[in-house]
Amino acid sequence: MTMPLLEFRNVDVFYGPIQALRGVSLHINEGETVSLIGANGAGKSTLLMSIFGQPRARNGQIMYRGEEITQKSAHFVASNGIAQSPEGRHVFPDMSVEENLLMGTIPIGTKHVDEDMQHMFELFPRLKERRNQRAMTMSGGEQQMLAIARALMSRPKLLLLDEPSLGLAPIVVKQIFQILRELAQTGMTIFLVEQNANHALRLSDRAYVMVTGEIRMTGSGKELLADPQVREAYLGGH
Ligand SMILES: Nc1ncnc2c1ncn2[C@@H]1O[C@H](COP(=O)(O)OP(=O)(O)OP(=O)(O)O)[C@@H](O)[C@H]1O
Ligand SMILES: [Mg+2]
Repeated sequence: MTMPLLEFRNVDVFYGPIQALRGVSLHINEGETVSLIGANGAGKSTLLMSIFGQPRARNGQIMYRGEEITQKSAHFVASNGIAQSPEGRHVFPDMSVEENLLMGTIPIGTKHVDEDMQHMFELFPRLKERRNQRAMTMSGGEQQMLAIARALMSRPKLLLLDEPSLGLAPIVVKQIFQILRELAQTGMTIFLVEQNANHALRLSDRAYVMVTGEIRMTGSGKELLADPQVREAYLGGH
């Protein structure tokens, strides 16, 4: 058996007295696209953030490439190849597209910056047209593309995406998922958190369903798409 790239072993996370993650175990193998679906407040963002120790797991272990990172700093995790496109996008509003992309190189330095920016402009042609535009003046979809591209500028081994479809029109959601599919086909390992279960499950090799801080179900994207309970709860019963 190969070692997972990322693994949660019985992880508990609390915010003060409130338990947000309950004995969470999951894994992501190298090259896989795995999604985590669940309703508002299920604990999805908490799980992603706990990889960076913000908030820190109280019990259990988080393993990355066979090494325990449970107590490591966010800086350590980022400089060892995990990058995140956070929920709500969070681009630097006053910076241009190019400046935002440059910020993405912080964990690895600027050695490959020209080559990598060129690559981002191929992947996201929209960003190329707008390379000098300030991020705050771009559309929601363009800002989401920028947030993903910025994460990719650190040449991550594992890309974490928190609700890339949030608040975007269906056509834009489709474009974003098409780009994620292309990325996945290049061998990138992707861990995707989504409320848009339909798109997420269709993209994913495997998925986990989270309910109030617990993993309740797991299976292949196909299996979960066909599961009556999942369809009822997350796919509008269709
Ligand atoms: N900083 C915080 N302090 C206290 N409680 C928090 C904090 N952040 C999240 N929570 C609580 O933890 C639980 C899980 O929240 P989380 O944001 O992880 O859910 P989520 O699945 O990402 O939801 P959404 O789909 O709405 O983004 C919620 O009950 C939330 O109120
Ligand atoms: Mg969230």
